[in-house]
Amino acid sequence: MKKQWWHGKVAYQIYPKSFQDTNGDGIGDLRGIINRLDYLKDLGIDIIWISPIYQSPFVDQGYDISDYYKIAKEFGTMEELEELLSEAKKRGIFIIMDLVINHCSDQHEWFQKALANPEGEYGKYFYFVKGKNGKEPNNWRSYFGGSVWEPVKGTDYYYLHFFAKEQPDLNWTNKELRQKLYDMINWWLEKGLAGFRIDAIMNIKKDLDFPSYEPDSEDGTVHVTKMVESVEGVEEYLKELNEQTFKKYDAFTVGEVFNMKKEQLGTFIGEEGVFSTIFDFSQHILTQEEGDWHQERQWTMDDWKKTIYSAQEEAEGIGLYANILENHDEPRAISRFLPPYAQNKQGAKAIATVSLLLKGIPFIYQGQEIGMTNCPMDSIDQYDDISTKDQYEEALKAGLSEEEALKICQRFSRDNARTPMQWSEEEQAGFTTGKPWLFINPNYKEINVKAEEEDVDSILNYYKKLIALRKSKEYIHTFTYGKFLPVYEEKEGIVAYDREDEENKIRVLVNLSDHVSQIPLEAPIEEVLLSNGYYEEQKGDYVELKSCEAIVLKLKQSVQ
Ligand code: GLC
Ligand code: CA
Repeated sequence: MKKQWWHGKVAYQIYPKSFQDTNGDGIGDLRGIINRLDYLKDLGIDIIWISPIYQSPFVDQGYDISDYYKIAKEFGTMEELEELLSEAKKRGIFIIMDLVINHCSDQHEWFQKALANPEGEYGKYFYFVKGKNGKEPNNWRSYFGGSVWEPVKGTDYYYLHFFAKEQPDLNWTNKELRQKLYDMINWWLEKGLAGFRIDAIMNIKKDLDFPSYEPDSEDGTVHVTKMVESVEGVEEYLKELNEQTFKKYDAFTVGEVFNMKKEQLGTFIGEEGVFSTIFDFSQHILTQEEGDWHQERQWTMDDWKKTIYSAQEEAEGIGLYANILENHDEPRAISRFLPPYAQNKQGAKAIATVSLLLKGIPFIYQGQEIGMTNCPMDSIDQYDDISTKDQYEEALKAGLSEEEALKICQRFSRDNARTPMQWSEEEQAGFTTGKPWLFINPNYKEINVKAEEEDVDSILNYYKKLIALRKSKEYIHTFTYGKFLPVYEEKEGIVAYDREDEENKIRVLVNLSDHVSQIPLEAPIEEVLLSNGYYEEQKGDYVELKSCEAIVLKLKQSVQ
């Protein structure tokens, strides 16, 4: 694999609204990120992805941008952003921002002009399509519920929005629009950004016939992903995007890519790939169909491990995935992936071990490193997230009771991950001195950075060790480029793999079953590199792992 500057690095996602408030308005800000750079440096982070901080009406928490060249006043100023870039640079940390270019905000100047004259120049920046017999042009259902078409008052036009109606889709067939986006991207890269996380990017290619499909819902609509899966040719746009922007700056890019055909992986993340990497969402897809939350899937711990193995094997010889357990759209990993007996400190360390030592670029989501959990609310009114509210309605429509619908939201709401970062046991978890914009998880008294910094056995200190091991001089090459080889595949509840190159053979062994397990070793242990607590050195030809125990071993390589 051709070496790249971002290989071997560890990334961290900041959800700025909930990270650290410094002026008491209850909203996290850029100053808060600057103040916490040392914390992230100490954790071992090399790359920070900041969710959108551009000017926005925040209908979808900043994923609705009204000016790509401005910083949201809620977060601070352009000067503070520049200060953040230079402070990060001093610490050897790279900053990437979110790039939301499938859609913008309905408050964006382009859309305002387009609305005023759908047939004019700016109308061509979006999709304005005439209705059929007084109805929407087709039956596509948006990601956030309801039709993707919104009528334009006083005309027979509708405009297209795959997400909320306040997020009109940009028309990528328009060369002039594409050029404006490229100029904007290059402007940011000139400022010193190291790259971008690219939002919802598979949606930029539309089937311009706008065909209706077989409904998948009783209301006659069909999820818009049906079109995304069916349409060909998104790569053409992505190649141009890469050529015109990222490639010129050797930027690090990570795509939010859903609905890609497996054989396309090389086009996305290979040596000539349009992105540096894309997120591996396979664990997410295993537990939940894309679409409605109430169509939850049944799965077992072994399905989960097989999913991880196959994603790793898919990428072998092609490129590196970005490995995640959490992000701002997902529930917390402990609550989501672990069975009740493992929803504790040991379990949190155990899945961290599985995820962080895989081949790829690990991304840690804020709060994951201290073991933050879901935060179920008692009533739908307490949720803020637009998609949670929609999903609640969808569940009711599908015939679930209010109680059942609320349960689904408690499990899957995006607000589970968006509650403020828990810094200390002080009031408001040390996040703000004012009233936080979103409820704080009441478990902050136990789960917080300060307490965990003081406890050698904490989840936080374990993450530090895990990252340090991954990046250590002796093993960074093996963890970055070494092969991924699953082992003991048939052993129930055991997630285990080797990372191997000419220098080292490292075995990662994690017991996620509810009982003790004995695991035979075919080679002697040379060194125990890490364990999550219980392990006492064993010299035999097997190791014994208790439930939720994780151990990383260096095995003697046989000389052939
Ligand atoms: C992505 C973002 C999500 C947002 C959506 C629309 O999936 O991660 O938070 O709501 O795109 O921009
Ligand atoms: Ca603030």
